Amino acid sequence: PKTVKRICCIGAGYVGGPTCAVIAKQNPDIQVTVVDLSEARIAAWKSTALPIFEPDLYEIVEVARDGTDGRRPNLHFSTDIATAIDEADLIFIAVNTPTKTAGLGAGKASNLAYVESAARMIAEAATSDKIVVEKSTVPCGTADSLRTIFAALAPHLAFDILSNPEFLAEGTAINDLLNPDRILIGSLKDAKSKSAAEALAQVYNWVPRNRIVTVNIWSSELAKLAANCMLAQRISSINSLSAICEATGAEIEELAQVVGLDVRIGGRMLKASAGFGGSCFKKDVLSLVYIAESLHLEEVALHWKSVVDLNEYQKGRFARRITRALHNTLANKRIAILGWAYKKNTRDTRESAAITIAGQLIAEGAQLAIYDPLVSEKQIFDDLESACPNASSSVKVYPDASAACIDACAVVIMTEWDEFKTDYAGSPTFGGMANSSTDDHHLTSTSTSASSDSGIDMQDDPSEKSAVLPAPGIDDNPNYSTKRIDWRHIAAVVRRPRLVFDGRNVVDSDMLASLGFRVQSIGKADVF
Ligand code: NAI
Repeated sequence: PKTVKRICCIGAGYVGGPTCAVIAKQNPDIQVTVVDLSEARIAAWKSTALPIFEPDLYEIVEVARDGTDGRRPNLHFSTDIATAIDEADLIFIAVNTPTKTAGLGAGKASNLAYVESAARMIAEAATSDKIVVEKSTVPCGTADSLRTIFAALAPHLAFDILSNPEFLAEGTAINDLLNPDRILIGSLKDAKSKSAAEALAQVYNWVPRNRIVTVNIWSSELAKLAANCMLAQRISSINSLSAICEATGAEIEELAQVVGLDVRIGGRMLKASAGFGGSCFKKDVLSLVYIAESLHLEEVALHWKSVVDLNEYQKGRFARRITRALHNTLANKRIAILGWAYKKNTRDTRESAAITIAGQLIAEGAQLAIYDPLVSEKQIFDDLESACPNASSSVKVYPDASAACIDACAVVIMTEWDEFKTDYAGSPTFGGMANSSTDDHHLTSTSTSASSDSGIDMQDDPSEKSAVLPAPGIDDNPNYSTKRIDWRHIAAVVRRPRLVFDGRNVVDSDMLASLGFRVQSIGKADVF
């Protein structure tokens, strides 16, 4: 097979950036250029404040981009898309494929406009043969469309089209890229296409060969969609059971444990919550629904559609539970929202359940006090603006959790940040000063650390704003993950009866009950 010397990646987002950083780090002899239409994104990738946050990402970028291990830098970021395309042997298409908002299939089908525009750019800029790799998640059959575009626009060149979908999960992207469960490569069956697949396989030189799976290109495209749909389905299934638990006295955590011990089922992705978020699950399930509908497979479409419907139901159910506990009126009641990112260890808020639930609480008249360790105030207001216009007068964003909780009628946990956990309870070592940030060159969070006294008692002055305690067994990675909020301090500043709604089941409800809270967790009877 051809030896790949230069790679171009179109799309410098959550997938293109981390994937290429790892590929470049592991292949010092390959020059990797990540390009994007967005000048701001590229400028950020060149700076110390990367456009996305992922644990360990900055360290990898530094090695490949800046040559901190003594190598010649081999990771580049550019807006000169045409040059990078023409110089490359292999081109990843890692652009966004959101749900269509208008036209045929609106609200379900994937919008392939960005993929098509990337393909056109390739056809127009290339002066030699290329291997073109679909990294984006695309509907089954997209490779055929690419082939048609290349045949029409650049008939004199030979393009090999491969499918190589990305399975990384945000928040654990670097670990997922370094230790993938599998690398999937789809190709045609002919020798030329297989040789291109082999050239791509060699780029993944750090992955054991038996984890590189080669299949036909349609299987590869569909397998990525199928994997995301099955993951989302597990969450909706456990969430559906959580509703039964709340009504019967069964406990969802116990249920998940027992069910997950069956090796045929397995224990992962069985965490009940107030609903899944993120840019992929909903759009990929809807994309599969649309594919099934297009194939006149109504029952199949209905099956998958219920995964998304159940998720909307779960979010609404959680918002209604909060409203009910506050006597069905939230008018002018202050509610603290802890966490805005759709999951921990990312700044990504796309489709975050917090947005929907905040919107529903605002609609009931609530005043929200929001805190997230990584998400910026601007991002929170942008999200709210698009989800529920005119919400901004009902919302304030705070730089730390305890400030958000002052005078709150309820505390609502929306993201499973370690910071919100109660796992310091009973530890003789906690209490003392939280360290101020020493390692925030790649964090743009406004979160501040403040001194805190482990001995705060509940009568303390509610205006005391500090409630950040270091956890035992601190990992010395990004500073934010080492903090814990002091729930005893929160107990002193919130209003009685100290309601906590744990949308992620991160707190120990019995422990919080002992501090005087009334906790409502997902899939569990209320603990008072
Ligand atoms: P993103 O929105 O973060 O990044 C896409 C980037 O592509 C943007 O910066 C955009 O400016 C750029 N772009 C769009 N059209 C372009 C063009 N013609 N030329 C140059 N740049 C262009 O999207 P993200 O999250 O990285 O997702 C990309 C794809 O990967 C999607 O298909 C998604 O479904 C898939 N995926 C996403 C995962 C995730 O966790 N975010 C995980 C696995 C797959």
